Amino acid sequence: MTFDATTFLKHSDRLEIDDLDFDAFRDQPLDAEALRCLRYMHDVESHTVCYLRDVLVTRAHRDPDITSFLTIWNYEEFWHGDAIGKVLAGHDETAGTTRIAALRQRLPKGDRWQPVGFQVASALTPHLTAVHMTWGAVNEWTTQAACARLAKLADHPTPSVLLRRIMKKEGRHIDFYSSEASGRLANSRAAQRVTRWALRRFWAPVGTGVVEGAEVDFLRTYLFGDEDGLTMAERIDRRVDRLPGLDGLHLLTSAVAA
Ligand SMILES: [Fe+2]
Ligand SMILES: [Fe+2]
Repeated sequence: MTFDATTFLKHSDRLEIDDLDFDAFRDQPLDAEALRCLRYMHDVESHTVCYLRDVLVTRAHRDPDITSFLTIWNYEEFWHGDAIGKVLAGHDETAGTTRIAALRQRLPKGDRWQPVGFQVASALTPHLTAVHMTWGAVNEWTTQAACARLAKLADHPTPSVLLRRIMKKEGRHIDFYSSEASGRLANSRAAQRVTRWALRRFWAPVGTGVVEGAEVDFLRTYLFGDEDGLTMAERIDRRVDRLPGLDGLHLLTSAVAA
């Protein structure tokens, strides 16, 4: 798929939520599982700026197409976190900067060295950008699938509309990442080898290392543990299979099985 940067920039915007009824949760609250899932999503969407930090210290920052996209991507993901925070607030839960500050205090010590690791990796191989673009595609596919699953499982009009709007935004992010990944992998067997090795060695569901491990386990079981969820995981694996040189990794289905 070819990414149309002009259209993406034209349609980039803050997520529209002013028409959503966040007071509806007073009479019709979400069940405990759906809320637990939304806490995870709030934290991970709000962590986007930290993922951005790790990309910008690499040679990806020299590519103006990538930096244009990342600027908008970070802005849009911020509003996803903010909107999900309003669902949590509708249940009298802490959200936004108070919750995010506490989360960042709990990050593992290794987090502070992560940019150094990416800087070194970027100096060692010109193909780290291919890894980042592929990683981004997998995470956006996963996020979009997670939103679809939660919209169905929560069975509530407000998050259902909200999550569908987020999915539409994630679709544009998918277009960029998958297009960049596909082009970079098609151009270089070395990029394929490095990306394949990195995904097999380091990939884990988005949120791993940010939220607690028990939450990652809960989410993959709750959202992808049944037949419909597994079907979605298999679909994402097939999308990864179609990227040049990346067939047979089974990232999602292995994560669900674990
Ligand atoms: Fe998002
Ligand atoms: Fe996204």
